[in-house]
Amino acid sequence: MPGNNAGGFKGSTVPHTYHYMIDKINALKAEIENLTASTPEEAEQLRIKYLSKKGSVSLLFNDFRTVPAEEKREVGQLLNQLKNMATEKINLLKQQAASTADNAPADIDLTRTATRLPLGTRHPLSLVKNEIIDIFGRMGFTIAEGPEIEDDWHVFSSLNFPPDHPARDMQDTFFISRNPVDVLLRTHTSSVQTRVMENTQPPIRIVCPGRVYRNEAISARAHCFFHQVEGLYIDRNVSFADLKQALLYFARQMFGPETKIRLRPSYFPFTEPSAEMDISCDLCGGKGCAFCKGTGWVEILGCGMVDPNVLESCGIDSKEFTGYAFGMGVERIANLKYRVKDLRMFSENDLRFLREFEAAH
Ligand code: DAH
Repeated sequence: MPGNNAGGFKGSTVPHTYHYMIDKINALKAEIENLTASTPEEAEQLRIKYLSKKGSVSLLFNDFRTVPAEEKREVGQLLNQLKNMATEKINLLKQQAASTADNAPADIDLTRTATRLPLGTRHPLSLVKNEIIDIFGRMGFTIAEGPEIEDDWHVFSSLNFPPDHPARDMQDTFFISRNPVDVLLRTHTSSVQTRVMENTQPPIRIVCPGRVYRNEAISARAHCFFHQVEGLYIDRNVSFADLKQALLYFARQMFGPETKIRLRPSYFPFTEPSAEMDISCDLCGGKGCAFCKGTGWVEILGCGMVDPNVLESCGIDSKEFTGYAFGMGVERIANLKYRVKDLRMFSENDLRFLREFEAAH
């Protein structure tokens, strides 16, 4: 480095020019190295401040004219380095600011998707109940509902259960009061049949979903309340074949087109003849397994032709009209579909259990 102007004796018009320039260059270099910009606009301001015609770097080039000839080369090189460094640095700042601006969320962006709110799910029993209703809905059945607190007439007497008849013991009843008439929690949804028949002349084609109550000890296989869907069809010339066909359609819609059904003779006071319906066990395809206890069949509902006594007690002429009825447990159908091992799961509202049915919606 030339030392001949150390001490500043380099002529009065351009005192300290060499040192002045070197100091200025170093100071600007340090300043520019530490620059930051958070927006492209800020970076542009910096470009104007340092590199435009009147910018501090450019002004140094004006001063350069006063640098003595023998030092021009060295100072010129340093000046050019400073200019290049400043240009590079400010361009980089511009790029960085532009890319963070791209990624930054806009204050209001109406196209953004909303945060998903946690939604509840439908209860598995509601899903199954709705599916049953839908299937019968396609066959022209409409929904009828009735009260859960009933009287003896609608639950038993009108349905051909004589007083003190042992058939009443089939269902352990919760009585609310026994005086002057028996008031009780309905033990089956067949009571809704009576309520509709009392008020409507045929044709009648209804499904009656609802909760029913029985005095049973709560366990994995029994509960003091559960849910049923009752069906009733009354018109002229309704036959057992119509019943069988409707139930076959239901079974195949619910459990798949390969499903087979079988009707076994049974007894209910309100139907004659009565039957219980089994479907082929879909776990083993009817071959016999632990689930169907080796029989290849599982029971799913009770049914039959409405007993003429029931029609008459509800004011319907049994010579003109016939009908069929059926009743099924929603928990039972849900168990067959989803293999819920413990009935209590349905009423405990354990979210881990309920969330498993999210996909079934
Ligand atoms: N009410 C019967 C029960 O709770 C189910 C039932 C069977 C209903 C046969 C019917 C039927 O309508 O025809 O066990």
